Amino acid sequence: MNQPANERLRGLIAGYQVSQAIAAAVALGVPEQLALAARTANDLAVHLGVEVNALRRLLRTLTAADVLHSSKDGSYVLSEMGQDLLERAPRTLAHRARLISSPFIWRTWAEFTDSIVSGTSAFESAHGTDCWAYLGKNPTDAAVFNAAMSADSRWMADSIAAAYDFSRFTEIVDIGGGEGTLLAAILQANPLVRGTLFEQPDIAQDAATHFDNLGLSSRCGVVPGNFFVSVPKDADAYLLKWVLHDWPDAKAIEILAKCREALAPGGRIVIVEHAIDNDNPTLAPSLMDLTMMVVTGGRERTRKEYEDLLAQVGCRLLKVVSTDCQLNILEAAPIA
Ligand SMILES: C[S@@+](CC[C@H](N)C(=O)[O-])C[C@H]1O[C@@H](n2cnc3c(N)ncnc32)[C@H](O)[C@@H]1O
Repeated sequence: MNQPANERLRGLIAGYQVSQAIAAAVALGVPEQLALAARTANDLAVHLGVEVNALRRLLRTLTAADVLHSSKDGSYVLSEMGQDLLERAPRTLAHRARLISSPFIWRTWAEFTDSIVSGTSAFESAHGTDCWAYLGKNPTDAAVFNAAMSADSRWMADSIAAAYDFSRFTEIVDIGGGEGTLLAAILQANPLVRGTLFEQPDIAQDAATHFDNLGLSSRCGVVPGNFFVSVPKDADAYLLKWVLHDWPDAKAIEILAKCREALAPGGRIVIVEHAIDNDNPTLAPSLMDLTMMVVTGGRERTRKEYEDLLAQVGCRLLKVVSTDCQLNILEAAPIA
């Protein structure tokens, strides 16, 4: 028997258990405590108010997973990887760990096989409604979702703003821009550019507060609305980050068509997504693609698939720019 291959497979099969162990540590505040000082299981259990033997077993598992390191004196510290579970880490994954393990996502993945059989989102069968309507009615889960989006956007924002020249635009409308993290980073890096964030009403409210806090309100408006109905008109750039991947082709085309109709002459549609490489698939974008299938009914796409979507709304892909955060920036313009 090929033992290493069998062991590797066993590890992959147990992936969700590792995921839950990491999420439990985050929920209990273990990383934040270990960042203050090396702690033994006894110390930590008293401090966190948890049962010591259960905690020791969690810490041992996280050490085996290289999230923690242990010393001979029985104390634990964060490994290099574990440091990214701190909320203040520049590329924090604490919020993503919370989202992936949250019961509403967890219940959805329980329906995964059915999703493959039917080719449709498991979210509706698990929750009786689509993801966006669900989040609108469940503010606690929505807060977990939005925090994970914003945390990723925070560190990705700098690499997106650095990789692409946004300074040539007069006004950028960020469609489905979440809490405004990416748009704020772009406006901070480009002091002459104005912005408008377009979002569902509750999130738009949070974004307005975010821009106020950063002193950007004079250069950045917030418009609540539904991108299947209409989007703000006459900007020279429409930015769509992690929006098209939420939707199947027919819906993604509707969103692009609204942007195309609204675009000022000479303007650009700027899509920020993984451009999946079918010949050389990597795990993170492939798992994101499955997440889209299960949770939103959307998909990750190849460069060619984006070209085909854009052609449907009379646009063509001009260029694809790489970033150092795995995402690609796809710039498109109307066909003259
Ligand atoms: C995956 S999130 C991406 C957020 C943000 N662009 C980012 O990258 O962090 C998709 C966003 O689309 C918004 N959205 C979903 N349906 C919408 C609709 N019909 N109209 C406007 N925004 C919508 C959601 O509220 C959510 O913030």
